[in-house]
Order: sequence, then structure tokens, then C-alpha cells
Amino acid sequence: MGRVEGKVAFITGAARGQGRSHALFLAREGARIVATDVGGGQVEHVEYPTSSEDDLQETVRLVREAGGEIVAGYADVRDRDAIDAVVAQGLEAFGFIDVVVANAGVFTWGAAPNLSREGWQTVIDINLNGTWNAVQSVLPSMIARGKGGSIMMTASQIATRGQSNAVAYAASKAGIVGMMRALAAELARENIRVNTIHPSTVYTEMILNEPVYKVFRPDLENPGLAEMEAELRPFHMLDVPALDVEDISHAVVYLASDESRYVTSMKFAIDAGSTQKLG
Ligand SMILES: NC(=O)c1ccc[n+]([C@@H]2O[C@H](COP(=O)([O-])OP(=O)(O)OC[C@H]3O[C@@H](n4cnc5c(N)ncnc54)[C@H](O)[C@@H]3O)[C@@H](O)[C@H]2O)c1
Repeated sequence: MGRVEGKVAFITGAARGQGRSHALFLAREGARIVATDVGGGQVEHVEYPTSSEDDLQETVRLVREAGGEIVAGYADVRDRDAIDAVVAQGLEAFGFIDVVVANAGVFTWGAAPNLSREGWQTVIDINLNGTWNAVQSVLPSMIARGKGGSIMMTASQIATRGQSNAVAYAASKAGIVGMMRALAAELARENIRVNTIHPSTVYTEMILNEPVYKVFRPDLENPGLAEMEAELRPFHMLDVPALDVEDISHAVVYLASDESRYVTSMKFAIDAGSTQKLG
């Protein structure tokens, strides 16, 4: 018997990175998956490639290969109607959704005085409003079913400790924490638990790209991963530069499962000690 046997999990940003890993981990532990990610090309005002349509299909293939059940649809989390359509597809296929992993997000950077209006708006719209869209879209059916649930929202260590040149990202992720606290208080009577996840830097395409290497070493002509890792390592208490997606998925399985039945309103840090060291 899997640790989340019988549950149905709705995951945004499921095409790759942490979201794909969460889908696989939850499926291997018995959950059925409703997956979504952006379709239709590059998200504007983001300086690294967002996922392709093939990436989401690859998640579908991997979940099925692992013996899991999955339905998937493309939706920009900023588009509430599109999110509602994927949720409806999931409800049609599986009857209910009792786990939400609101994971889709983008990272942008830049000194505050020069940050463009579009740069600010894009991050707030995707990371904060998009998280809200994913959660609120599921809530009516989750409450009406009357059997509780677990909602997770991916924030970041930066929500707590801040970071220079990341003001929009920090604001969006700190906003998620406020959303989580309010929802946890409101939904406890429904036995719906609400928690945020705060990863440190994770090896995904969000950070494994040249513009981000340059953020960490602007003084170098062509910095690479090794140069960025040297900058990242001192953020942590534990001796590691960045985490693997699996490290975050273990927490997701725990928070989705009944093992965490009395865990709610928590900022769940998986950050090698960085928040406590620098926060
Ligand atoms: N990688 C890190 O260092 C790190 C650290 C802390 C928190 N996070 C957070 O973890 C979450 C997952 O990111 P990741 O590391 O897997 O990076 P990633 O870029 O590989 O995955 C993010 C996914 O979100 C999707 N997405 C972006 N904009 C979207 C939109 N408008 N609508 C729908 N989907 C959209 C992307 O296509 C992508 O598949 C994000 O919320 C991110 O902010 C990442």
C-alpha cells in the first residue's frame, strides 16, 4: 500500500523540474495525478526557457511508465478559465481532488531601481496570483466532498530571508506565506491542511542557465555551474551547494499523506539550514 494510495493530486508546473518529480513520487506512492503546465511557448519577460509542450507529455509518459494514472492539460496559471478546465478534466477522470501542489513559478532578477514594470507584474501574476488560481479552483469541490485535503504551495527560502536583486520574487513568495496562513486558519474546520514549502536552490532549469550563473558572478565573462556553486555553498549550514528535486519531493509525499495529518500552517523548509543561517 502506497503512502498516498487513493488520493488525487493536482500539480501545477508539472512539465519538468520539481513538479515532474512530485508527480512521479506521488504516483509511485499510489496517488492519481492531474498535471498542468504552460502550453504555447515561452512565457514573456522570463529570461530562461520555460517548459515546452513536449515536457508535459514526457511527465505523462513517465508517470504511466511507473504504473500511475494521470490526466494532463495545458494552462497558464494566470488564466483562471484554463486552470478551471484542467481541474474539471481531473474531476471528470477521478471524481475528486484532495491534494494540491501549487508549484508553478518563475524566477526573475535585477536591481530594484531598474526592475521593469513588466518584470514585477509577471512574477507577481504567475507566482502569487497563479498559486491562488490553482488553489481556489480546487477548493469548492474539495470542501463539498467533506473528506479534507492537503494543499501545498511552493514558496522559497527567499520568502523568509530575502535576497538582493530578487525583490519581485521575494515579494511573490512571501505573499504565498500570507495566503497559506489565512487559508490554514479558515480551512481547518474542513480538515483541509495548508502548508508552504521552502526549498533552497534546487538543480532545475530555473537556475541551470547562463543568465543565472551571471547573476552570481557578474564579474566573470562566462561563469559556469562550478562558479555559481562556489557562491551557493556558503548559504547553507550543511556542506552542499544546491539540492536535488527528489529532496523536495520527499517532503511533498509526506505533506500529501496522512502521516502529516496534524501538520498545518507550517513553513516547511528544505534548505540545508540556509534560512536559519542567514534569516
Ligand atoms: N530551482 C530553485 O532553485 C528553486 C528554489 C526555491 C523555490 N523554487 C520554486 O520551485 C517551483 C518549481 O520550480 P523549478 O525549480 O522546478 O523550476 P522549473 O523552471 O524547472 O519549473 C517551473 C515550471 O513552472 C512552469 N511555469 C512557469 N510559468 C508558468 C505559467 N505562467 N503557467 C503555468 N506554468 C508555468 C514552467 O513552464 C516550468 O515547467 C517554483 O515555484 C520555483 O519558484 C525553485
